[in-house]
Amino acid sequence: MTTPIPGPPGWPIIGNLRDVDINDTVRCFGDLAKTYGPIYKLHLGGDDRIFISSQELVNEVCTRKEFVKIPIGSLKQLQYVTPKGLFTAPHGQKEWGEAHRTLTPAFGPLAVQDMFPEMLDVASQAVLRWARAGENNKINVAEDFTRLTLDTIALCAMDTRFNSFYKDDLDPFIEAMLTILKEAQVRSSRPAFVTPFMRDANQKFEDAIAYARKVAADVITKRRANTSGAQKKDLVDAMVNRSDPVTGKKLSDDVIIDNMITFLIAGHETTSGLLSFLFYLLMTHPEAYSKLQQEIDTVVGKGPIKVEHLGKLLYVKASLREALRLHPPAAVWGVTPLLNDDKDSDEHIVLANKYAIRQNQTVLVLTPGLHRDPAAFGDDAEEFKPERMLDDSFQALPKNCWKPFGNGARACIGSDFALQEAILATAILFQKFDFRLADPDYKLVIRQTLTLKPQGLFMYAKLRDGID
Ligand code: HEM
Repeated sequence: MTTPIPGPPGWPIIGNLRDVDINDTVRCFGDLAKTYGPIYKLHLGGDDRIFISSQELVNEVCTRKEFVKIPIGSLKQLQYVTPKGLFTAPHGQKEWGEAHRTLTPAFGPLAVQDMFPEMLDVASQAVLRWARAGENNKINVAEDFTRLTLDTIALCAMDTRFNSFYKDDLDPFIEAMLTILKEAQVRSSRPAFVTPFMRDANQKFEDAIAYARKVAADVITKRRANTSGAQKKDLVDAMVNRSDPVTGKKLSDDVIIDNMITFLIAGHETTSGLLSFLFYLLMTHPEAYSKLQQEIDTVVGKGPIKVEHLGKLLYVKASLREALRLHPPAAVWGVTPLLNDDKDSDEHIVLANKYAIRQNQTVLVLTPGLHRDPAAFGDDAEEFKPERMLDDSFQALPKNCWKPFGNGARACIGSDFALQEAILATAILFQKFDFRLADPDYKLVIRQTLTLKPQGLFMYAKLRDGID
């Protein structure tokens, strides 16, 4: 005997479409969980979708091998752009397996350390820009962190400098990428039959894809032509020169191009959101702010920051984990039970011993709710407390209660890259500057695109005494 999954009653044909603001889905899904509990369903796009947000349910979904990734929302639309990219690949795709095995070592903590000089180079540009602009310059936090993260991933994954801190105009590649992301988002929020009629938008989309692919192809050609022996140990090197340990094959140009674009897309907005939320949280929590800055002063001091410092910045790392807990930038990810080879089969799996979930039915994990589950984080789950994320306490947390990077084999390949980049940026920026909100009464507003970011968040950066 199974129990029906609760949910709001729908309307004929449109189902629960009116329960969801398509521009603010994450907030809506969270609000519905407050009404219907940690598991509920909505009838959307002709099917019942299941939403879960408690540690108990998410843990079950993360540990049962029947559940596999299903690309949802904008990610599903991006399959058209990067059909063989790691992020968008459907479960079981052969090219995903080859790229995953080939590239995973290049994203490990030790390999990522080789990219420290590139990361430091871009973080130093942010320091220079803010120092030159002076202490009365209002910094648009999310915009400047997007400059930082885009330039970093472009340097490491495309060997290309966007120099976003030096110019106001966007590089044409960034413009193409923004066009692609915007169109993917628009397509994910309207019925598919409308798309063929949107001729101008479709042409712009195709042009942007063609341009991005051409730039990526040129990067590959240039790297292959470099036979000087002085190869950089970056992600381009890994994509062009490594082989799959199982098949012994190198990645095809199409797969490299898909993944170059994927890394640019997956690797900038998320890390920029993380840094923006972290700075907001620190500026509104003076005690944590002082502890973090003191740790940086003790570990790094006033001299140049080095790769060896990063592993000692334990409070900085804990603060980033805590920011990811309260404000996970990639807030929702999808899985589905795969029970047999018949995609139309009505076989089902039973969750928590009572809820039936059909083969191919989409289950969406709502990480903002999961990350505030009092059963996992206690009664102070809503509060920003980096101490709970220091290594010992972090390791003692209930299983699968912290999932900002997704799950299993399809979890984020770039998590070490993102954390190293964010620790470095936080350390160098707090070493050089004191920060305060431009508007002390600012109330956090979250904007949803492919990821979540604070909106309208501005701050001042004042050079600290003794820093030149
Ligand atoms: C996958 C979050 C940074 C590349 C994912 C997933 C999440 C995530 C939740 C799983 C999505 C799903 O299951 O549908 C984040 C967050 C980041 C971050 C919060 C920063 C704070 C990065 C960076 C890169 C990257 C810097 C690249 C350099 C990828 C790729 C995948 C992925 C390629 C797909 C992995 C696969 O399925 O094989 N990320 N990400 N991410 N991420 Fe990240």
